[in-house]
Amino acid sequence: MSASVRLHDKYPELGRGLIPIEPYVSPDYWNREKADLFRKTWLHVGRVEELPNPGDYMVKDIAACDASIIVVRTKKGDLHAMHNVCAHRMNQIVYDERGNTRKFFCKFHGWAYDLEGNLTGVPDEDCFFDLDRCAHGLATVPCDIWQGFIFIHVDPNPAMTLVQFMEPMYGNVEGYPFAKMTSCFSWTTEVACNWKLAMDAFQEAYHVAYVHGHSIADSIKTDDGGAMRPLDGLCGDYHRRLSLAGNTRTVYGNPKAVTQGGAALEEALAESAAAKPISAAALRAGAGGARYVFPMADLPSGVNWTGSPDWMFDINVVFPDFYLSLRPNYFQAYTFRPIAHDRTLVEARVYYPEMLTAGGRFYQEYMKVQLRDVLLEDFSTLERTQAACRTGAKTHMILQDYEIMVRHSFEVIERILGDAERARAAA
Ligand code: FES
Ligand SMILES: [Fe+2]
Repeated sequence: MSASVRLHDKYPELGRGLIPIEPYVSPDYWNREKADLFRKTWLHVGRVEELPNPGDYMVKDIAACDASIIVVRTKKGDLHAMHNVCAHRMNQIVYDERGNTRKFFCKFHGWAYDLEGNLTGVPDEDCFFDLDRCAHGLATVPCDIWQGFIFIHVDPNPAMTLVQFMEPMYGNVEGYPFAKMTSCFSWTTEVACNWKLAMDAFQEAYHVAYVHGHSIADSIKTDDGGAMRPLDGLCGDYHRRLSLAGNTRTVYGNPKAVTQGGAALEEALAESAAAKPISAAALRAGAGGARYVFPMADLPSGVNWTGSPDWMFDINVVFPDFYLSLRPNYFQAYTFRPIAHDRTLVEARVYYPEMLTAGGRFYQEYMKVQLRDVLLEDFSTLERTQAACRTGAKTHMILQDYEIMVRHSFEVIERILGDAERARAAA
């Protein structure tokens, strides 16, 4: 697809009108999202590499579901998820965020549970009345894995399986070398804004020339107007995707250069060597230092799906709050998880291949610092925008064609909340 093609022409059902800001400021709307959206969908909570050994566990507090969930690797090697709620008098079983254990012991009265949540020990058991241990384990939560990403679902009977949820939009992404990208760095922060407002800042590239004007704006291809117009966009029943090209004559705009080297490396240095000498030095140091090369031809068909030689990355938003940006040789996995109608927990994780040389490590550290700055730029607007939304000075926002993912996000949530309300009215 040419960058001049209008994405809204592909999805006329989305309309082209103004988008209300009420969903971004309303506590009532947030309560509807909690009940009818977050409690009814698959939610990403981590990667399998975080729990490599039997007994490894992590705890995810998910305010949007009023839930605290334990995910643990069992002795059999499976992952098991359960509510962090003791069957006796409801104390939370686990207080820390992660660890390794043979059993879970409640700190209130010492009830013990195995890694599958079965009740295995009760102090003074003979003082209870016909206590049936089998009936009082920890409540199980559906848990499944897609491409190494762990998802949970707080509804004990999900309306669709994780495969049914992911395949229609992301089936042709399967096979991306996630498991070869094991070198992770991350940032976690709480932001005083609505979760959609935070996520919207990451599901369009219109802002790059301005918000990132002093950092990575040189990575924008300028032959299409300079506003980082996408190669293509895809909108599904839940998820959405945007594919973006870069200025391959720069370090940031040509991410494949560090693993491929050769002509790609020379191309990436063409402008950066003079304009960004430190960036260029980092790339030169890192070239050839990665454990894997990642030939573009080996990527699955759904990655860089337009086949652009200038491809920089795909933005994938896995409904509702999981941003997965796939690049030629590294990926970013961010969650924008709401805490309240005006508070969001952002967990930003970046995964690179392991670097085998000192130069490779230096390049990775350089990229980490650069990305930190880019993230700080992205975050610089969020709390200001939320405060401005609250003033009531404006009631609607105006979107251009390439902000289609912001529109799609709004439309999908409206549809889900509307369907739930109509179902209740009909019952
Ligand atoms: S609340 Fe857990 S043992 Fe009493
Ligand atoms: Fe940005």
